[in-house]
Amino acid sequence: MSSSEPQGIQRLKGTEDILGDRAVAFERVESAARKVFKDFGFKELRTPYLEEKDLFCRALGSGTDVVQKEMYEFRDKSDELVALRPEGTAGVVRAYLENNCHKTESLSKFFYVGPMFRRERPQKGRLRQFHQLGVEQLGADSPLSDAETIHCLAVFLETIGLKAGDYRVKLNNIGYPEERRAYRAVFGAYLTAHRAELCEDCHVRLEHNVLRVLDCKQERCRQLVRASGAGRLADHLSDDSKRHHEAVQRALDAVGVRHEEDPFMIRGLDYYTKTVFEFTHAKLGSQDALAAGGRYDGLVELFGGPRTGAVGFAAGLERLLIALQAQAPEAAENGYEDTCFVIARGEEPLNEAYALLARLRRAGLAAVMDLRPDRSFKSLFNQANKVRARWAIVLGEDELKTRTVKIKDLQHSQERSFPLDGLEAVVKDIRNHFQG
Ligand code: HAM
Repeated sequence: MSSSEPQGIQRLKGTEDILGDRAVAFERVESAARKVFKDFGFKELRTPYLEEKDLFCRALGSGTDVVQKEMYEFRDKSDELVALRPEGTAGVVRAYLENNCHKTESLSKFFYVGPMFRRERPQKGRLRQFHQLGVEQLGADSPLSDAETIHCLAVFLETIGLKAGDYRVKLNNIGYPEERRAYRAVFGAYLTAHRAELCEDCHVRLEHNVLRVLDCKQERCRQLVRASGAGRLADHLSDDSKRHHEAVQRALDAVGVRHEEDPFMIRGLDYYTKTVFEFTHAKLGSQDALAAGGRYDGLVELFGGPRTGAVGFAAGLERLLIALQAQAPEAAENGYEDTCFVIARGEEPLNEAYALLARLRRAGLAAVMDLRPDRSFKSLFNQANKVRARWAIVLGEDELKTRTVKIKDLQHSQERSFPLDGLEAVVKDIRNHFQG
């Protein structure tokens, strides 16, 4: 701990202060997400971070790891059992019903950006407070909606600098709960006969949710699953589920989203029906999912609404930044900002520069300045570079006498003089006054 840290108070494990370049990177990815999601017709929905605990137990499934082991839950001072949201879908469904969207619109398209909380063991790409960027469509039965959702994610990734080929899109069809029930019985019987060969975690899965054995990462369990005498889940699905899935595949082909089938992908939340998908990136290590989602046709009904087709995804912002750093460091790099750094020395120039600063801001430009009178030009230029201001506007004693300023393009190392009066107009299309 450095001596400047307040003694005894540090941030909690698995949480992060986001500042400097990292805050800029967060903002860049978030605003790209907002732009792409809006282009696809999604509207922002901000749900509370704190909800009744029961919302998540019922939506995600009370036997899931997220609910059993990872949720931050507590009784508040009026003894209400609440939880910090571990994901966004449950809150969106609650808000959709509570705000009567099911009665006022036949299709609701929402996006969200914000922190989620899971008490997992922190490691690379796994935090206790992390950030998701997600979309949800409710009132969407068509397989084209699944494809549109996946396509939206692919377009967003491309916008931030992750190209197809940098990541894999894995797809599976897990059908409806009643279709899985039949498979669960035969698969469970097969695994029980091979119980001794399963890992410890899978012994627990065998008791509570046998299908989770399908995506166990342990090699022994994987071999057992692949050699399964119980056949595949796909063999137990209805014609309707199969047709839906084939239509999703065709629609993805039509918009050029490369995808592969992963018949063992099952996902860790109980609400999924039919389509599930994951976007994975090799540079993420063991936590390799950049984003994931699927269809959840039963969730609105579970909370008392009408049967409603729904599909969505959530991407992990911190994981996107790891992938970007590994993949396209130049895209992750922070470039010059369109900011004017006003540089002045001496009392009179400083006062004039301060008035100029206000004029520039009033004209809608980003303008900053060190207001202390005793800074050297060298240290002021260093500051301008540090904040990555594209433009330095210099106002010294000489400039004041001739009522001019020097403008330096710090990115391309060019310099020109301009009249101080009416500078707002020059600065507004400043790029045209410099090459590059
Ligand atoms: P999820 O797979 O639990 O799905 O999380 C989605 C993404 O959030 C993951 O792929 C990962 O990038 C990120 N993520 C999850 N946990 C952590 C963590 N502890 N630290 C850092 N990143 C993490 C859901 O949350 C569903 N609600 C997705 C969805 C939306 N399905 C339908 N609509």
